[in-house]
Amino acid sequence: MRSVSAYPKTIPSVAVSVGGLALFLVFASLLLVYQPIGSIVSGYFYNVDQALVLSSNNKTNTDIKTKIVDSSSNQTVDSGTNKAVDLDTSETIDLDTNKTVEIHTNKTIDLGTSKTADSGAKKIVDSGTELCSPITWCDLYHGKWVHDPAGPLYSNNSCPVLSQMQNCQGNGRPDKDYENYRWKPTKCQLPRFDPKKFLELMRGKTLAFIGDSVARNQMESLLCMLWRASIPSLFLNRGNKRMQRYYFRSTSTTMLRIWSSWLVHKTTEKFDFAPEGVDKLHLDAPDETFMDVLPTTDVLVLSSGHWFAKQSVYILNNEIVGGQLWWPDNSRKKKIDSIEAYEISVATIMSSLVTNPDYKGLTVVRSYSPDHYEGGAWNTGGSCTGKVKPATDGELVESGFTNTMHEKQVSGFKRGIKKKSNKSRAAFMDITKPFSYRHDGHPGPYRSRDPNKITKRSADGRPPPQDCLHWCMPGPVDTWNEFLMEIIRRDFEGHNS
Ligand SMILES: *[C@@H]1O[C@H](CO)[C@@H](O)[C@H](O)[C@H]1NC(C)=O
Ligand SMILES: *[C@@H]1O[C@H](CO)[C@@H](O)[C@H](O)[C@H]1NC(C)=O
Ligand SMILES: *[C@@H]1O[C@H](CO)[C@@H](O)[C@H](O)[C@H]1NC(C)=O
Ligand SMILES: *[C@@H]1O[C@H](CO)[C@@H](O)[C@H](O)[C@H]1NC(C)=O
Ligand SMILES: *[C@@H]1O[C@H](CO)[C@@H](O)[C@H](O)[C@H]1NC(C)=O
Ligand SMILES: *[C@@H]1O[C@H](CO)[C@@H](O)[C@H](O)[C@H]1NC(C)=O
Repeated sequence: MRSVSAYPKTIPSVAVSVGGLALFLVFASLLLVYQPIGSIVSGYFYNVDQALVLSSNNKTNTDIKTKIVDSSSNQTVDSGTNKAVDLDTSETIDLDTNKTVEIHTNKTIDLGTSKTADSGAKKIVDSGTELCSPITWCDLYHGKWVHDPAGPLYSNNSCPVLSQMQNCQGNGRPDKDYENYRWKPTKCQLPRFDPKKFLELMRGKTLAFIGDSVARNQMESLLCMLWRASIPSLFLNRGNKRMQRYYFRSTSTTMLRIWSSWLVHKTTEKFDFAPEGVDKLHLDAPDETFMDVLPTTDVLVLSSGHWFAKQSVYILNNEIVGGQLWWPDNSRKKKIDSIEAYEISVATIMSSLVTNPDYKGLTVVRSYSPDHYEGGAWNTGGSCTGKVKPATDGELVESGFTNTMHEKQVSGFKRGIKKKSNKSRAAFMDITKPFSYRHDGHPGPYRSRDPNKITKRSADGRPPPQDCLHWCMPGPVDTWNEFLMEIIRRDFEGHNS
């Protein structure tokens, strides 16, 4: 492992932005972790009711002719006719219990028709381009963003599981063209996301997103796109920010999200000279909280990194070796910093997965998601306000911190998979560089519906409070799921042949 002194110049600025980010994350995580669960849930019901009413109403808007195909009978029903479509909406859902609830619908929306229930969402255009052949797999992560008027597969109005904090359009963001870019790898095409194909690939399988709020960002994007193909039954685990579970009956596909901030074992009890209350990360032990789902998981997507800016104590071999925003005594020497702790954590989780005899899934490590607090940290004048399209090469602002985190993640990944057995499957989804161009893809000041929120710089030039870390939905984050689908397709094809 390289020593800290390899980064002498970046450390002070890193320290500042790390501190700022940490405060931001403390603030953001309160909002993200606790508040939106309720809003997701109420959003879900509000919107699903609407969607179902829309489909089954006798008098729908004449523009809207959603074809609903009953998969059990193949009967196609035109919602514009008087024929009622029974979507079995009488189920009510008790939000106050842990009862597992399903919305019973076996209906799928036929994507073969060009009309959709949501006039805001574009039809799915057949990519009709040369795909990466399984033999000459090209590098998906070198390329450029190209303008694409086809736009996203869904809109804020068509997706019922969209966290309000990432609902940029719903929060009043005035520009929209950032939705109209596609990633074009230099040597091939990245296939457009195809919800039906995705569910077909995942037939009978389980996909789990494990990690921080960025993992949730990606899962919601995926759900929003899949919603076009099949309305999932929702298994609701109320009051449990830790876990969410969705079930797509049409293909018996399960989707899970499990919260794990650092992916390694965390304790809060007093340990040696670290007092109770401060989070202690045991960097050499994986987070045990999701081990129980591994035997039944076919694809695992891991997301971590940003929480290493938060306060914590690092423990290795049962010894305190460092701390982030915590170190009581400067006469003691820190052996590692947060960047090295990140590398070790990635190595730990990967080696535990590739050596786990009960886990046979494909592990996808999503690389460090770049943030864009340009000109400072979130609270020191950093801003992504006013960015309305991807950066050009000339505009790209390299972040030393992001690059270092990415480097450490890559080396941790490589170290972790050294113990790979023949059955282990792992992929590194390397979005960091492509997404460093997407300073336009964040909510910025449009983080809530609050009509009185500040969205402009103040008279003295200070930017408004903003989120330049998570990603708008729809938005560039949808591309992650195009990468994911391609990774899964390549893996399954390689695996089965
Ligand atoms: C739909 O039409 C049927 C037959 O015309 C009628 O009985 C029913 O009440 C209508 N439902 C709604 C929701 O308007
Ligand atoms: C539905 O149609 C598909 C082809 O359009 C066919 O393969 C399938 O057997 C049909 N299913 C039923 C239940 O009729
Ligand atoms: C709900 O589930 C949580 C954890 O899954 C459990 O601690 C709690 O007791 C459950 N509550 C009820 C009402 O069953
Ligand atoms: C949905 O399909 C499953 C089997 O595919 C069947 O057991 C269930 O009864 C169906 N539910 C409804 C509401 O039609
Ligand atoms: C979606 O965005 C539009 C603005 O583009 C807004 O008028 C609408 O209220 C939003 N809908 C939701 C559900 O947020
Ligand atoms: C992996 O596969 C190769 C060739 O298929 C074989 O020689 C090797 O022994 C295998 N290794 C393990 C650990 O099973």
